[in-house]
Amino acid sequence: MRAIEIRNKYLNFFKSKGHSVIPSAPLIPENDPSVLFNTAGMQPLVPYLLGQKHPSGTRLTDYQKCVRTNDIDEVGDNRHLTYFEMLGNWSLGDYFKDESIAMSYEFLTKELGIPAEKISVTCFAGDEDCAKDTVAYNAWKRVGIPDERIYFFGKDDNWWIAGEEGPCGPDTEMFYDTGKPKCGPNCNPSCGCGKYVEIWNNVFMEFYKDKNGYSKLEQKNVDTGLGLERMTMLLEGKETPFDTELFSDLMNKLEDLQQNDLIASRRIVAEHLRSSIMIINDGGRPSNVDRGYILRRLLRRMTRHMNKLGIDVSKLPELIDIQIEAMSEMYPEVINNKETIKNVIVEEKDKFMKTLQNGEREFEKVANRTRNAGKDTLETESVFNLYETYGFPPEMTEELAIEQGLKVDMSDYQRLFKEHQEKSRLGSEQKFKGGLASTGEIETKYHTATHLLNAALKVVLGEHVHQMGSNITEERMRFDFSHPAKMTDEEKQKTEELVNEWIKEGLDVTIEEMPKEDAIKSGAECMFIEKYPDVVTVYTIGTISKELCGGPHVKNTRELGHFKIKKEEASSSGVRRIKAILD
Ligand code: SER
Repeated sequence: MRAIEIRNKYLNFFKSKGHSVIPSAPLIPENDPSVLFNTAGMQPLVPYLLGQKHPSGTRLTDYQKCVRTNDIDEVGDNRHLTYFEMLGNWSLGDYFKDESIAMSYEFLTKELGIPAEKISVTCFAGDEDCAKDTVAYNAWKRVGIPDERIYFFGKDDNWWIAGEEGPCGPDTEMFYDTGKPKCGPNCNPSCGCGKYVEIWNNVFMEFYKDKNGYSKLEQKNVDTGLGLERMTMLLEGKETPFDTELFSDLMNKLEDLQQNDLIASRRIVAEHLRSSIMIINDGGRPSNVDRGYILRRLLRRMTRHMNKLGIDVSKLPELIDIQIEAMSEMYPEVINNKETIKNVIVEEKDKFMKTLQNGEREFEKVANRTRNAGKDTLETESVFNLYETYGFPPEMTEELAIEQGLKVDMSDYQRLFKEHQEKSRLGSEQKFKGGLASTGEIETKYHTATHLLNAALKVVLGEHVHQMGSNITEERMRFDFSHPAKMTDEEKQKTEELVNEWIKEGLDVTIEEMPKEDAIKSGAECMFIEKYPDVVTVYTIGTISKELCGGPHVKNTRELGHFKIKKEEASSSGVRRIKAILD
């Protein structure tokens, strides 16, 4: 059965059971800065699970676009995905366990035609917070699941909560028996050997958890989630999601183009491309903070694995066309956004190629040195140097090392990073003070333009760019930054264009006060962390820049007018200087 048929059957089935079909929320949560992406169908519904009235009633169903990023590094095996679609149905204080289980069973066996004997289920075993779920057990018995296919587990397996705090409760999970032999006498749905594949999770949300423990919600809810890619894999009789129609055109094309036959790399390219298409489609753009950085990581990892496969990156537009075509039936909106999606991906790839080539070359030297010294672990200094001098992200160094059977020592990385920032700061403290000395209207504009320039240089030249100094007068801004080489005309032009693009986009500049630790955790850029007080001010510009800074700044980038680089020159060894104006 095709993915779109499964989706349509699901929505129609629950509609026939009195549910309203609601649209998928965008991948990027609206009005919720606490999560990067929607990770489950219930996420946009939290206020309603807590008691607010939903305009569409107490029975809802939808398909939800989801991105889960904890497992990025696992993608490449036969099951992990960062993007997936979750089919769900909800009772907001309406039906509870009996009806939910009866409906799930009917859908699986009658609508999808899964033989009853292939279904095993698990229920909550009970503990000091919540009793054993005999209600769910009895409901399964009633529909005909025998005792030997009903298992009980504790909170690790049969309790669901998004994160640390929020609505939660015991769940009952349904598993599909692939028919593979048992891995041992104790083989069961939670053992992970691959015989049993989880297909659906029904959470009975009647609790709320916060730091004081569990309390009862005002209403008893049901929240269910069925992963579409996995169900498609089972119903198409395939071993992995990559063999299904959701990925197969692109996987075949990669196989045609590749010089090196690397299955994990093909999966990484296909998966990360699909995820990136969906994130960009919902408005995500690569950047150095938060969700923009996740997208950047996906695209960089994809680029590196294209290289490993020996596929010329100029083929990317063709690959994007193939994947968009494959997705267009389920997500027609990607067709309209095709050009934007292509431009964003190709531009990011272009920016990264140079960093990748230089970084990989240097990595090989470091790896050889390590091996020649009879060691198996890359020193922190080497990992840091790859980042500082070549802009090569530490997570990529780690991945390369693992591929070559090496380890990395990251124990001292944070200290080196801070030391480096301190050095930059010390070298420029005087000049920087000058930058803040006078703050009239035009100086305020230059101050904001400085943050934009800093962010743009990181995009165009790489992550190794750090502010080394700044000086602002009424006539111009001057910005010193770490970078080993003269900028090319193209790089200068790109930087200028990027800053002007952000000015045109009219990005809001927001100010927040927060504990220093939180500011660092949130990825805010700073020059000399020890010198800041415990509570700091952080200026954020749209999604492109976040810096610890005393201000002042304009309220919106639109106020800046037009940005122009007048000069790019050497300042001192490894430090470049840009003079620029706003006109
Ligand atoms: N929230 C549950 C999950 O994500 C069920 O939808 O598995």
